[in-house]
Amino acid sequence: MNKLVLVAAMLIMPMVQAMNSRSVIDLINWFTKSEPCMQRKIHHDPVGTKVFKGPKIDGRKRKTYFVQKCIGAGLENQAYLVRDGPTKNDTLLCLKVGNDVGGWEYERDFLRERADKQCAKCSKSVDKDDEQCPHCGHTGDDWKKITPSAPYFPRIHDAFEWKDKNRDGALKYVLVMDFFEGFKTLKDFVASYAAGVPPALAQRVLTEIVRITALMHTEMVTTIRKRRGGMKTTTKPLCHADYHECNIMVKIDNGQVQVRVIDPHMPSTMKPHNKYTDMVFVAKHAVMLSCRGNNPKDEMKEAVINELPTGLRRYIHEALGASNFDEAKALKFKDISDKNEAFWGRKNSENIKRHKYIKSADDMHKYLRQNLGIFNA
Ligand SMILES: Nc1ncnc2c1ncn2[C@@H]1O[C@H](COP(=O)(O)OP(=O)(O)O)[C@@H](O)[C@H]1O
Ligand SMILES: [Mg+2]
Repeated sequence: MNKLVLVAAMLIMPMVQAMNSRSVIDLINWFTKSEPCMQRKIHHDPVGTKVFKGPKIDGRKRKTYFVQKCIGAGLENQAYLVRDGPTKNDTLLCLKVGNDVGGWEYERDFLRERADKQCAKCSKSVDKDDEQCPHCGHTGDDWKKITPSAPYFPRIHDAFEWKDKNRDGALKYVLVMDFFEGFKTLKDFVASYAAGVPPALAQRVLTEIVRITALMHTEMVTTIRKRRGGMKTTTKPLCHADYHECNIMVKIDNGQVQVRVIDPHMPSTMKPHNKYTDMVFVAKHAVMLSCRGNNPKDEMKEAVINELPTGLRRYIHEALGASNFDEAKALKFKDISDKNEAFWGRKNSENIKRHKYIKSADDMHKYLRQNLGIFNA
């Protein structure tokens, strides 16, 4: 036994050191759960540049982006606030640099396909008022139509491969998109209210998140994949799959609640694309909106279900299926919110898969409109 512990320690320690002194518990959590959201916690390795230069296309001048500051750094990507020119009058944009070509291509195509208005010829995003494509000069009335969830995602402006000269020319992948000015991540939004988000405001934010999720889930996407013996076509609702509290942005604009969504994740075994996975995240957001303190994520996990405001308890029972709470023997919210496929995909005592009790965003949107004041004490 002692030998086993020693071998495990020898294997884990270098990883711990290499991953910038995160604790073993953090590492285990990171490997087993699908919610990294650790932009502020870890030391990151920023790119050592003040400008990002795009490629030369058709002999035209390169696009140059001027870095203002780093706004987020995860394990895979760094996000920067940039301007598309050297002066203060140039447009602010968000530039994201990553190492993973698959994730980059997925996000690029996802955002392109949602773009407000796209050129039918080159598929690049164009402004609503443009009658001629600024990228390829195309004119015509065959602009690709806006999709229902498009207004809530950033529009993509540029995507290119980039050599990081400070890292021996390592190849990185860049996306340039709208910068959501004045927005905070849902987590920071909650933390910014020392006394907790006022109940009426919390309900409006949750309703907007649920409404946008319902819009997203109405869009159907078809993927074609190579399979042994041919191609497989699948049509599924559009899902986010990594719908955590740092990928949802909130702003109160002249009293109006605005919500935006960033960082859609490509399908993987850890991050499956199904509506109920997104809806489990939304239930977490509901509980988080009732929390206070600097670390609303931990508070959300520690929340005692029976001590939540009555309306909120009813909401999460409705959203995730009251019987599932009994099956999970859930006292604290983490007892149910940390459950993964192994729990939701398994059948309950009535031989029904547990996720079947999870309600759709559309149902929960109706519920919220009929049940006001769920956050009231
Ligand atoms: N379009 C944007 N507008 C404003 N802030 C953004 C935008 N995109 C990303 N951010 C900020 O950068 C952080 C990291 O970006 P994200 O795309 O989520 O990368 P990662 O894949 O590392 O999670 C976000 O949590 C958010 O704070
Ligand atoms: Mg993210």
